[in-house]
Amino acid sequence: MSTRAGFPADFAWGTATAAYQVEGAAAEGGRTPSIWDTFARVPGAIADGTTGDVADEHYRRFIEDADLMASLGVNSYRFSISWTRLLPNGGDTVSQEGLAFYRALASALLERGIRPYATLYHWDLPQELEDAGGWLVRDTADAFAGYARIAARELGDLVTDWITLNEPWCSAFLGYASGVHAPGRRTGSKASHAAHHLLLGHGKAVAAIREERPEASVGITLNLYSIRPASESEADVDAARRIDGLQNRLFLEPVLAGEYPVDVLDDLGERAWFEEQPASDALEIAAPIDFLGVNYYSRHTTAAGAADASGAASANPGSESVRFVDTGADRTQMGWEIHPDGLLDVLEQAHAYAPELPLYVTENGSAYADTVAPDGSVDDPGRTEYLRLHVDACAEALHRGLPLRGYFCWSLMDNWEWAFGLSRRFGLVYVDYETQKRTVKSSGEWLREFLTGAVEAV
Ligand code: FCB
Repeated sequence: MSTRAGFPADFAWGTATAAYQVEGAAAEGGRTPSIWDTFARVPGAIADGTTGDVADEHYRRFIEDADLMASLGVNSYRFSISWTRLLPNGGDTVSQEGLAFYRALASALLERGIRPYATLYHWDLPQELEDAGGWLVRDTADAFAGYARIAARELGDLVTDWITLNEPWCSAFLGYASGVHAPGRRTGSKASHAAHHLLLGHGKAVAAIREERPEASVGITLNLYSIRPASESEADVDAARRIDGLQNRLFLEPVLAGEYPVDVLDDLGERAWFEEQPASDALEIAAPIDFLGVNYYSRHTTAAGAADASGAASANPGSESVRFVDTGADRTQMGWEIHPDGLLDVLEQAHAYAPELPLYVTENGSAYADTVAPDGSVDDPGRTEYLRLHVDACAEALHRGLPLRGYFCWSLMDNWEWAFGLSRRFGLVYVDYETQKRTVKSSGEWLREFLTGAVEAV
């Protein structure tokens, strides 16, 4: 049984979104295209053929959205800054209109007692930087640090909590290996070079933000999976080692322990390339951080198998033959298994590397095919249950003594879900894309009641 009162009074209770998924206004105020504007126009790339051009019109409706958050009773909001809205073309000249938007958003939050947590990179690389090689080239890390410095300088009086990257695994391996995310490239194990440059950009950005704003609190968000083998056979255990390596350890270890896991570099066949990189990179990547953000949605059960014969490029280069086993557990509309205990697994895993480091759940949530009832209400029992179980897992994490400082639900409202377009709804708030009308779902009502102390999680 967990109640809000069982959590520390200063626990961050928030919702999360990302710029391209909610803002719309893609060409306003001088904003220029990112790799997602480009990718969304590639025929067949997005399931329903939509783009983020309009999305939730959050750019125009952010006051209404801040009011919605306040009505839910949350005290924190994690949003991302669109790089090209602040710095058109990925250059170093600030767009005053872009800056005014983020300043107004942060101010609106603060006026409502909601603490802004700003993510600098939620996947929207300026197109010009992709044209110059994207994350496969080292210069992109420097460009990112330059952007981070300007953002901290221009917004750091309003925002103290910064997240450098969101889910660098997705940027690297979905962007440059499987190609299902922007920029849609299929470079096999070279996607790990993108991972390295992302992490280097993170480390350089941490340093730049600290120089501009010594009082800032800076972290990174990783998407971690609870991974276990389908059986105790040596081959299945090795499959789990491989996926845990690619998904979790390839990111956790350089950031928190100062070195890459050599077994993973060998699986990738990329050890030689990593050894050629300047020795100082490891130190930069391991720059001390103030917190780790963990995005947790699901678990993977892995088994040894034969390489996929469909011809699709794998997101797991070098480990293409690993099979993901259907355990029969309930799944969300994304096909992701519901496994709240896995949240504890990933928090424990991260904690073991850095026992003093504060942790946040920076995303957790579920997609269901919601419908609006004739009376206008949206009842979403599946999402409510998912939320309750994961909030309860947070209570258990605190009970175990883990330094968990906050929980952000993905997402405040339905939004443009990347390669799924508008066909997947994750919101606590329903969005009618024809009218932009927002309706709090029953999951949102549940969160509101939980936060006021009216209901228990489990
Ligand atoms: C995460 C992303 C977020 C959203 C959720 C469902 O991987 O960070 O933008 O798409 O998944």
